[in-house]
Amino acid sequence: EIRSAIFDLQAGPTGAPRLRTTLHDVITELTRDVPLRTTVRMSGPLDVVSAPLAEHAEAVVREAVSNAVRHAQARELTVTVSVDDDLVIDVVDDGVGIPDTVARSGLHNLRQRAGEMGGSFVVEPAAHGGTRLLWTAPLTP
Ligand SMILES: Nc1ncnc2c1ncn2[C@@H]1O[C@H](COP(=O)(O)OP(=O)(O)OP(=O)(O)O)[C@@H](O)[C@H]1O
Ligand SMILES: [Mg+2]
Repeated sequence: EIRSAIFDLQAGPTGAPRLRTTLHDVITELTRDVPLRTTVRMSGPLDVVSAPLAEHAEAVVREAVSNAVRHAQARELTVTVSVDDDLVIDVVDDGVGIPDTVARSGLHNLRQRAGEMGGSFVVEPAAHGGTRLLWTAPLTP
């Protein structure tokens, strides 16, 4: 943990903050002052994610978390980001659940982003109520 904290303090090669830091910042910003117990898990070498894919990852996390904050009335939110052969973003809340037929804008955008990267996207009822959003893309297209 100390090692990853130190890495997080360093900027990437382009001067942009590392993906791990960016995602933590986005989640903190969106859940600040919201009565929501938020758990964030990140695993694998987030540093090897390409710049374009990292941009998608940020957009996906931003949309998924802001949906949970604005629509779910959830008590708990879990964001899991893992990197191995694929980047996998898994966002689960225990809120009211997503209606079957809704006008989708942010979610439509996430589907397009997955398609662009040869990945996958699904929003489904979570195992114990609430909503699960799962977005994946291969590290190398
Ligand atoms: N986690 C969630 N829990 C409950 N309902 C949800 C959740 N995420 C989305 N929804 C429902 O699905 C609808 C569509 O979501 P979508 O992100 O596409 O649009 P939006 O959030 O309303 O608008 P935008 O993303 O453009 O700000 C939402 O308006 C809301 O009714
Ligand atoms: Mg939205």
